[in-house]
Parts: sequence; C-alpha cells; structure tokens
Amino acid sequence: MIVPFLDLTAGTAELRDALDAAMARVMSSGRYIGGAEVTGFEQAFAGFCGTAQCVGVSNGLDALRLALMAMEVRPGDEVIVPAHTFVATWLAVSQTGATIVPVDPAEGQFTIDADGIAAALTPRTRAVIPVHIYGMPCDMDPIMALAQEHRLWVLEDAAQAHGALYRGQRIGGHGHAAAWSFYPGKNLGAFGDAGAVTTNDPALAARMRRIGNYGAEEKYKHLEQGLNARLDPLQAALLRVKLDHLEAWNARRARIAARYDAELPGDLLRLPHMPNWAQSSWHLYVVRAAERDALARHLAQDGIETIQHYPIPCHAQAAYAGDQWPALPRADALAQEVLSLPIGPHQTDAQTDRVIASLHRFFAT
Ligand SMILES: Cc1ncc(COP(=O)(O)O)c(C=O)c1O
Repeated sequence: MIVPFLDLTAGTAELRDALDAAMARVMSSGRYIGGAEVTGFEQAFAGFCGTAQCVGVSNGLDALRLALMAMEVRPGDEVIVPAHTFVATWLAVSQTGATIVPVDPAEGQFTIDADGIAAALTPRTRAVIPVHIYGMPCDMDPIMALAQEHRLWVLEDAAQAHGALYRGQRIGGHGHAAAWSFYPGKNLGAFGDAGAVTTNDPALAARMRRIGNYGAEEKYKHLEQGLNARLDPLQAALLRVKLDHLEAWNARRARIAARYDAELPGDLLRLPHMPNWAQSSWHLYVVRAAERDALARHLAQDGIETIQHYPIPCHAQAAYAGDQWPALPRADALAQEVLSLPIGPHQTDAQTDRVIASLHRFFAT
C-alpha cells in the first residue's frame, strides 16, 4: 500500500458531476473574465470567513502583493515577517521595495507572536504579516493590540488556514486583510493558480480590486499603475463547488490529526502543540525530529510520502543571499527538523494506520 502525501484526484472524483457542470456553465457563458461566477464565489467565501469583503485574485503571492500595495507599503518602510514561512511571504514584501524584517517563531511554536514582533519594531515599521503556518492560527488579539498602539497594518497570510478558527472565529477578518491561496494542494484548492484577499475594510477592498485590474475601475481609464491579478471565472466556479465541502473535508483532516496526536509516540517525536484558543485547519501535520532525514527515508521505504515544509529558510535562499540577516536560530532549527506527514480528506483509516505503525517501527529499532 502506498500512502500519498495528498491525493488530489480522490477529491475531484468525489465532486466530479458538480465540477463538470460548473465548468460547462462557464464555457457556455461566453464570460471568461470577471462576471457573476467571480462575484458569486467572492460573496460565498466572504460569508464563509465572516468578512464584509472578498476580492478574488490570481494566486496567493498576488493576494499578498495587492494588499501591501493597497496599504501603500513602499521603499523605506519595514515589514515584519516570520523567518519560518513559505518564500511567497517574503517575495511580496521585496516586490514592494520595502525592507523585510524577519522574526523567529515564538518558543515552542511554528508561528510568530506579539512579543517577537514588538522586539523587531522600529519607527519605520509599517506593516506586519503574521502567517498562520500549517493552518495554525497566530495569537491575533495581542498582535492587533500592538498594531493599534503603533499604527501598523496587519496583513494575515492565510494561505494555509482555510477554515481555521482563532478564539472560535474563522480566520479571515482578524487583521486588516487576509491573503489566501487556492493553490491545488491547499484545503480549498483550485484547478490551477487562484487566490483572494478578505477584509472588513471596503476602501482597502476597492483599492485592491482596482490595482488588480490594471489600476482601472472603468475600462481604459487607468487611475494608477496596476497589475493584472484577477481571479478567473472558471476557477471561481470550481472553487464555489468545493467551498461547500470545505468544512466537512477539514473535519476529516482533523480526525486524522487527532489520531496522530493520540497514537504517535509523543515522547520520541515533537508533535504539534495546539493552544486552547486555536483550531487548526490541519493543512499540514508537522512533526519535529532530530533524526528527520533518516525518519523520512524509513517512511519512504514503507511507501509513505512525506514533505519538508521547508528545507531551506527564506534567509538562506539564494534569492536573499545579498542581504544581511539577524540570527534566526529557531527558524534554522525548524528547517533541519520538520517533517510533514500525510494528511488529507481522502486519506483512509488503513493509510493512517500504516503511517502510525511505520513511525512506531522506526523508533523501536
Ligand atoms: C504561507 C504561504 N504564503 C503564500 C503562498 C503563496 O500562494 P500561491 O502559491 O497561490 O502564490 C503560499 C502557498 O503556496 C503559502 O503556503
């Protein structure tokens, strides 16, 4: 038996008829940019997140970029970001010309917290991007209190947090804006690239919409130098079908995570710590092991796919080699130790059994 890291074809098969119907509807409509499919998904996703607004965009990186541009983050500004994140969080800041200020994760956590952010503040700090990494919400209340005190923008990177809860409320509207990716492997995944930004600020939403549409509100009237970063109607229609299943599919992920929590050897392996105010979307189930590489090889020999999120920290990437970075020992350690186990809504009990048994065998030898 092979245990894939994530089986995307099973999800498509489950919803095949509805997906086919949505695709056919778009093809027959003759409307291939904007229109009712995009608006319909935006409204549905805003409703799901409990926010006033959702702006559909082309991908998660563009969601972050558009939000930072709408917040008027510019060269000379500093933006605080986690050291431990996918590189898109950093690239979005670089592409505005602002300065990246990386912060190590909080002690024993994968996410950054208000204390780490406070220690990195300077008079030039303009924004902070808390990343709900792996689907685990950051502790947003203290972050928002700090932001209010220092007049900072807070842009949540929610690319991995569809349906995650912070203090009982879905992620999407705790900060000034939240950027989403619908990359196919995400909990809500498109059939290609897609993304969105949610916000409760109508002015910010209007500005993002304009920037993402060539800086225009009306055709051929360009008010600013924008991008082409729109959500395709085809992706919107397919995402609308999948959104109806997100909660149920997240519940299936949570059941697997609960089994891993209960049945993996927590004394030999560091299992993810979930504060009582957080409910993860369980986008990823990430363990820490000193002998990570040997463990990954052992699991691969048993037919179990794993991934490292992420093997090289952003500050050690060639793309950022020219810059001086502070010491980031926790991010460095995570890059050496993290291992993401298979998890997904279509993973069978037998597959989960196999992962658990294989891990026990590794530590028994
Ligand atoms: C934390 C994080 N931020 C941003 C992104 C960028 O999203 P996209 O791949 O849709 O550009 C991703 C996912 O790929 C991500 O995991």
